[in-house]
Amino acid sequence: MKTSMKKTLLTIFAVSALSLSACGGGGTEDNAANNEGTDTEKKVLNVGTEATFPPFEFMDKGEVTGFDVDLLNAVAEEAGYEVKIDNTGWDAMFAGLQSEQLDLGMAGITITDERIESYDFSDPYFESKTMVVFKEGVTIEKADDLKGKKLGVQNGTTGQFAAEAVVGQNSPDISKYETAALMFQALQSDNVEAVVTDIAVALEYQKNNPDSGLKTMSDDEEFQSEYYGIAFPKGSELTEEFDAALDTVLDNGTYAEIYQKWFGEEPNVDALKEAAEQ
Ligand code: ARG
Repeated sequence: MKTSMKKTLLTIFAVSALSLSACGGGGTEDNAANNEGTDTEKKVLNVGTEATFPPFEFMDKGEVTGFDVDLLNAVAEEAGYEVKIDNTGWDAMFAGLQSEQLDLGMAGITITDERIESYDFSDPYFESKTMVVFKEGVTIEKADDLKGKKLGVQNGTTGQFAAEAVVGQNSPDISKYETAALMFQALQSDNVEAVVTDIAVALEYQKNNPDSGLKTMSDDEEFQSEYYGIAFPKGSELTEEFDAALDTVLDNGTYAEIYQKWFGEEPNVDALKEAAEQ
């Protein structure tokens, strides 16, 4: 090998070693201890979501926005990270967590016993329950009234599971849609008579479509409380760091501020913390 070439190779090696150590030096521990550090030092986490779920996540001028986005930014900052949120879609988000191409999923994801088998979850950050949305002229007063109705759900969500619990798994009356937006479109165009989704999303949709004559039904006997959590790949070290950061954000008023912005009322932080103990 010629010396000039050797030199070049050495330089390349030195430069890449330098940039490698720069990345390493900006690693998680340093950042966690120093939240004031410049943004460029922070590790960027890849986040997946399904952004047709207002007020939690939706697209606005090409950007994912919503309660989840504000909360995630606050918690990530507290933990010393930056986040890059991609509207991957629901199924791809879970696949990305499985393959660890994503560091976390933030999409109003309910912590369920089944999902806990495959993913880690943060402590609860929002209490939810199932709500049914339908048009005037349709009569649905209790969960049992879903029987015999054409129902729409977002595929693979707790809305689907709740509908199935009432009308049976694989019922031909249940149409499954890839996104929450497509589910609501099916309702608007009368392809289904009712959709089964999450309470805050149902109420937001009703509020945003005042001319559609939409009604809602929740059934406290049939539908239990559920809790949203941030999802991580199984065994992720981030889970603990994010729980600590979430705790801080719940305690220091940041959570309440974000909650006020999106829901116009005070959150019940104590109830959330109690749920975290279970
Ligand atoms: N909370 C429900 C579930 O986990 C629905 C979440 C749907 N989220 C969304 N971004 N489309 O299953």
